[in-house]
Amino acid sequence: MRLRREHRILWRLYGYSARLLKTKLFRTAASNTSFPEVWLLLVQYFERLPGFFWVVQRNSFFTMPEILENKADLELYSPHPEVRGMTTLDRAAFKRTIVVPVLKVKKEVINKLLKSLKHITLHRPGLKRVIDDPKDEDRLVLLDPHKISAEYSLGESEQEILKQFNIDPQVSKYNLELTYDNFKTEEILRAVLPVGQDVTSGFTRIGHIAHLNLRDHQLPYKHLIGQVIIDKNPGITCSVNKINIIDNTYRNFQMEVLAGEANMITKTRENNITYEFDFSKVYWNSRLSTEHGRIIELLKPGDVLFDVFAGVGPFAIPAAKKKCSVFANDLNPESYKWLLHNCKLNKVDKNIKNFNMDGRDFLLGPVKEELTKELPLLTKERKNTLHIVMNLPALAIKFLDVFKHLLDGKPCSTDLLPTVHCYSFSKHDSPAKDVQEWAEVFLGTSLEGRCSTHLVRSVAPNKEMMCISFQIPAEVLFKKQCTHEESPVEPASKRLRPNEDSPEEKLTSLKD
Ligand SMILES: C[S@@+](CC[C@H](N)C(=O)[O-])C[C@H]1O[C@@H](n2cnc3c(N)ncnc32)[C@H](O)[C@@H]1O
Repeated sequence: MRLRREHRILWRLYGYSARLLKTKLFRTAASNTSFPEVWLLLVQYFERLPGFFWVVQRNSFFTMPEILENKADLELYSPHPEVRGMTTLDRAAFKRTIVVPVLKVKKEVINKLLKSLKHITLHRPGLKRVIDDPKDEDRLVLLDPHKISAEYSLGESEQEILKQFNIDPQVSKYNLELTYDNFKTEEILRAVLPVGQDVTSGFTRIGHIAHLNLRDHQLPYKHLIGQVIIDKNPGITCSVNKINIIDNTYRNFQMEVLAGEANMITKTRENNITYEFDFSKVYWNSRLSTEHGRIIELLKPGDVLFDVFAGVGPFAIPAAKKKCSVFANDLNPESYKWLLHNCKLNKVDKNIKNFNMDGRDFLLGPVKEELTKELPLLTKERKNTLHIVMNLPALAIKFLDVFKHLLDGKPCSTDLLPTVHCYSFSKHDSPAKDVQEWAEVFLGTSLEGRCSTHLVRSVAPNKEMMCISFQIPAEVLFKKQCTHEESPVEPASKRLRPNEDSPEEKLTSLKD
């Protein structure tokens, strides 16, 4: 008796809310009153009134003969509105109750039925789709409110399925309490950050570390955002934010720990190789994994790889694993330390010779020495290829002049000459042409028809990371045999256009 009266009150309130939604008072664009909107409003409003749960208890189950509309309503899954502006995470404040449709089902058939009705059941993080019916032994299957038809009934195919299992197709309502655990990262951040602001919560993962790149408007919420990322991503125990752009010599960036442990020594896998390093002291970019793999694909066992700016080894170590002979170098003592560590970790320390020097000294010393030794041994039959990788996109192109007349002796056959893979940023409309022209400037010769360029990734709008590959032309690599000094080779294709940056100016502007 009392229950019927409660339901009558509820239906009046429902009708009243529905009418309100159509008025300017609530400033809603709803032309029709949808099931989620009205019930959201109703529950939201009345859950604040003391005694409301005397009428509708949380997680209670009741039926109602109203029309459900299949109208997508993002608001249905938004946390309690009071969390707006929160800067210190209070998980309990996210709790709120929504109304969802349910089907009452005999427990014996539940598993088979779930398979068939998977497409209309409710899927929320950390939420069971099936709950016990408090009234009896039956189960309640939670359905997605957005997948229920306007006729307050299931579709024909679903009805057919229910018939087979002898289940009443009556859809009822259930007051479902959603907690912090049941909301997705984006829903949480959209509810917290000011209305209309971008809540993009993307990050790169390096082992247990989430690396964020927050925008200015997100900074007041940085600790909360960092904690939500940890909570919602199993295995992540620390979140950091990039403080400034990479513009120091070692290409690592300053970072601030937003939430979680401050342990920066991390372990990650790339192309089936494990790397360990201190993320705060070395360069690591997970977005380069495809590029690392692309270069490794070019190598065959027995080839030689010189890695001029090796970092902690993402080119050098897989190459050594592939039975190439590797010479790896990095100026940063911390990178060098972790490079040695990773060689041991991956059991390739026998195949790699590591150096801790400036790239120019590395090219003029160990690389020159090895090329002098190796090139005369190469023949058409013993055709191991030699590769020189130069991944320091802001500056590497400037190092290309080292190859000018690096070697004495007679030029070897063209197809045995070492191949350089040099990285560079470009802000030009035609980045491939731009990078080729700068390479030509520093090599002092034309590469027309003798190089290929590859777009590695877009670093920012209008800033591309490119890789130019070419075999060092013999006229560049070998000292001239004649006794008199010839005038320097005129750069074949690079013509500085009026108002264009000089190489120096351009290079200082190309920062990561
Ligand atoms: C962009 S990172 C590339 C690291 C690694 N090769 C990769 O692909 O992830 C450039 C590396 O060059 C090193 N480096 C910077 N200036 C250098 C120099 N003058 N000589 C040698 N290494 C240098 C930095 O320490 C950093 O590890």
